Amino acid sequence: MEGPTPRVLVVDDDKAVRAALGVNLRKAGYEVTLCRSAQEALAALADRPFDLVLTDVAMPGMSGLELLAQLRATWPNVRIVVMTGYGSVPDAVATMKAGADDYIIKPISREELLVIVERAVQEKALLAELVELRAQVDKQYGFENIIGATPAMVEVYELVESVADTRALVLIQGPTGTGKELISQAIHYHSKRRAGPFVRVNCAALPEGLLESELFGHEKGAFTGAHKQHRGKFEQAHGGTLLLDEIGEIPLSTQVKLLRVLDSGEITRVGGSKPLQVDTRVIAATNLDLLAESKKGTFREDLYYRLNVFNIPVPALRERRDDIPLLVEHFTRLFAERHERSLNLVVPPAALQRLVDYPWPGNVRELKHVIERAVILSRGEELVGVKLPEIHPAEEDRELVLPAGMTLQAALLEYERQVLIQALKHAMGVQAQAARDLGLSRSNLNYRINRLGIAVKDIVYE
Ligand SMILES: Nc1ncnc2c1ncn2[C@@H]1O[C@H](COP(=O)(O)OP(=O)(O)OP(=O)(O)O)[C@@H](O)[C@H]1O
Ligand SMILES: [Mg+2]
Repeated sequence: MEGPTPRVLVVDDDKAVRAALGVNLRKAGYEVTLCRSAQEALAALADRPFDLVLTDVAMPGMSGLELLAQLRATWPNVRIVVMTGYGSVPDAVATMKAGADDYIIKPISREELLVIVERAVQEKALLAELVELRAQVDKQYGFENIIGATPAMVEVYELVESVADTRALVLIQGPTGTGKELISQAIHYHSKRRAGPFVRVNCAALPEGLLESELFGHEKGAFTGAHKQHRGKFEQAHGGTLLLDEIGEIPLSTQVKLLRVLDSGEITRVGGSKPLQVDTRVIAATNLDLLAESKKGTFREDLYYRLNVFNIPVPALRERRDDIPLLVEHFTRLFAERHERSLNLVVPPAALQRLVDYPWPGNVRELKHVIERAVILSRGEELVGVKLPEIHPAEEDRELVLPAGMTLQAALLEYERQVLIQALKHAMGVQAQAARDLGLSRSNLNYRINRLGIAVKDIVYE
């Protein structure tokens, strides 16, 4: 036997039976406690945990059956084996129905006793392991690590639960840093595919040609540098889930191919001729408004409608401020543990108020970073070092100071420059966000940034 010595509690009103069981079980390496009655047994259990209770059925006072009911109610994880006399097999059946895990018929042979006890103890250990494993998985990928209790987030959880077990395409839409990736993982781990792979592709990170081979794979010699065959992400995610992250950034030509794959469930490797059937569940995520993009012509409308079967909108953090205290609490504890700071770190009310009032352009990701920094700086029991970018006064309150003799054209350009810098600051340098705030497409914003020679990397985020 491995691990700690299993503890067995024996309950029988017959002294000779008790003694015999005690001797045999101790010899076999168990730690044994002997009790004369159900009442005594309950007292012993209240005192210390046992792995297994071996109990007689017919006893004066409280019967074995009543004891069983009590045990199940109070110690649901303890294994219970009942002992019944030879003529009372129906009793044994009744006790099994009442929740016993096994039964032994008296007179009990030594071998039979040891086989049954060992099996019960092993089952108990397995069960404990399983419960532990399940809790771990749930903790990592379930809702436990998605913090938020506002109605908006509850709706997200409900949508995740209803769609998880289907094969439907899911489109998760929301501003940057709102937890889209986290939510896509929750879908995978709440689905029947949870034992299969979860694969993520960042569609924005790769140039057109590479993206296709990344998604669909390629055959040896398909292009210069394709030295060997490569399995794409669709294949790698076979039996599991594929997250197409930043789907709004995928080039138009790849969009056509993607649409075909989604329609047929088949992929063809780059340079290959034979289509392959894959069983991959697809989730797409984006921080762009795909409908607007499709109206502008940067995203195919047909692909948009194909992806938009089941839409999970994720709200910006400033639209669910009631979640901010929960998130602050969560991240404070998380980082206190990680960076070995006091586990009782208290967030001063004034700091919490500032955190609640701040508009959070970078959403939960930004909040997470602000708290991590503060926790690292906090050496005592109080969270210090909460640093937030200054919120600038609204545009209309500000007076534009221009040198005399400036042409209208130059003045407008100067004004535009200030507006763009302002928006970039507000978006913490995230251009997609700044573009959205300004009502511009990303390429339009980019064009303006270049035209005005704004050095995005030199902008200081106070
Ligand atoms: N509700 C939440 N509870 C706890 N952590 C969260 C939550 N939402 C986001 N986070 C954390 O914030 C960070 C950003 O989340 P995630 O990567 O899922 O955002 P995203 O929506 O995919 O952003 P982007 O559009 O920029 O890719 C991660 O570290 C994630 O763990
Ligand atoms: Mg993401």
